Amino acid sequence: MTTTPPSLRAALRSLPENATEAVVDTLFVPSLLEALGFQFDEIHPQYNTGDGAVDKAVRKTTENDIFLHTRSNPYLLVELKGRDINLADNAAHYQKTVNQLKRYLLAPNCKTVAWGIITNSCHIQLFRKHGSVIFPATKCILLSEENIDEVVASIRKKIDKPAKALTIAVYNNKGGVGKTTTTVNLAGILTFLGKRVLTVDFDPNQQDLTNALGLPLSHDNFYKALTERDIKLQDIIHPYSFKKGNLEFRFDVIPADEKLAQEPEHLLRNYLKPHTLYRKLEILRQEYDYILIDSPPNWRVFSQLAVYAADVVLIPTKHNNLFSLENAATAIKKFIPEVQKEKADGSPIPLPIFFNGEKITPPQLAIAQQELINIIKTAKKEKFNLTPYFYPKYTDARKDLHIHQLPSYANIASSAFARIPAVYRDKFAHEYYKNLAKEYFLQ
Ligand SMILES: Nc1ncnc2c1ncn2[C@@H]1O[C@H](COP(=O)(O)OP(=O)(O)OP(=O)(O)O)[C@@H](O)[C@H]1O
Ligand SMILES: [Mg+2]
Repeated sequence: MTTTPPSLRAALRSLPENATEAVVDTLFVPSLLEALGFQFDEIHPQYNTGDGAVDKAVRKTTENDIFLHTRSNPYLLVELKGRDINLADNAAHYQKTVNQLKRYLLAPNCKTVAWGIITNSCHIQLFRKHGSVIFPATKCILLSEENIDEVVASIRKKIDKPAKALTIAVYNNKGGVGKTTTTVNLAGILTFLGKRVLTVDFDPNQQDLTNALGLPLSHDNFYKALTERDIKLQDIIHPYSFKKGNLEFRFDVIPADEKLAQEPEHLLRNYLKPHTLYRKLEILRQEYDYILIDSPPNWRVFSQLAVYAADVVLIPTKHNNLFSLENAATAIKKFIPEVQKEKADGSPIPLPIFFNGEKITPPQLAIAQQELINIIKTAKKEKFNLTPYFYPKYTDARKDLHIHQLPSYANIASSAFARIPAVYRDKFAHEYYKNLAKEYFLQ
């Protein structure tokens, strides 16, 4: 027998100020999950993720497959805390709880999970999982009787109709670090792996991505699509196709636009708002698995719109170029948080840096690591923890200084002249980018 839980407001009102986790679980969670659209037999308490038990796992019933019975294919996890655990997003327990949720989301029995929630009934935050990437889908929100219905309704809207795509801006303020090469070859390898991919050449001054694929430039179509309400990005997409024997690999490209390059920035700013590209991509986020945006080496209008449009920012650097490392730090500490503040849904977040395209000897690596340690120390004084973005595998217990390296390889450089992504021409390039895709994006 199930009874209908009280309304969210009533549930919140009924909670004592110092409610323990068990009390939050009894008095609040049933109303929360009901408001999110889940019924009694769609909710599994203490679900075994394969890496510990998460408080709730849920999934809608499909035909005869009732989650509580089959326990297969969970969709959303909830990690619950009592009110004694402060989940405000600068509190010590916050990061610990997020890390705990991330561990569950990536656990063996949770491959199908797309969402995670942390809540203690005072705060709530929603995270999206796409492949192996986890990023915030809302800020960490302080709940009150006034806002709870609206907050939970907006979470429900997201989980009911998730964007299919992960949108990635490839960005570093430093020039020549491999942004365009990374965009082209990631698109190539993800396509090879069966994903639907769209790339956007948002560096209209250099147009390197469009040229590297041998595609015609957009004269003013992209400009129009961004500035006119009735013109859709869907209408200006160009397919790139590569045939090998019976195989054909196709991904889509929005080519660089000449008019965007000609207009001075102060005029462009009249039509290009921070959210312009983000909003125009909305429908396309349901069509593709990945949207990759190549951006220019500066922090001006195109990079700003690209980063705003993104869920995550991929930052290529060079181990032997201090500026590329410092620029990565500036993007992480300053530029990306500025965009997060404006966008107000917790995204985009930086992915860990990687070293691109230079041979690294062990002594050179040691020098780069010392530089990074200095940059991390400086950031710490500004109360910013860069370690997860530079050394993602570093923990107090295991001081692992792993940084992904994409080797320098002549056939990667020469492929731009052939107008074919290196991953389609060369088995080493293919392996290098497959490793990058696996480490960063795939589960
Ligand atoms: N892994 C690699 N191995 C060899 N060459 C590489 C590699 N990655 C990039 N390159 C070469 O380095 C140069 C710069 O790369 P790319 O144009 O991708 O950088 P970028 O960051 O997009 O530059 P910009 O800031 O000018 O847009 C190119 O000539 C490219 O072919
Ligand atoms: Mg480039």
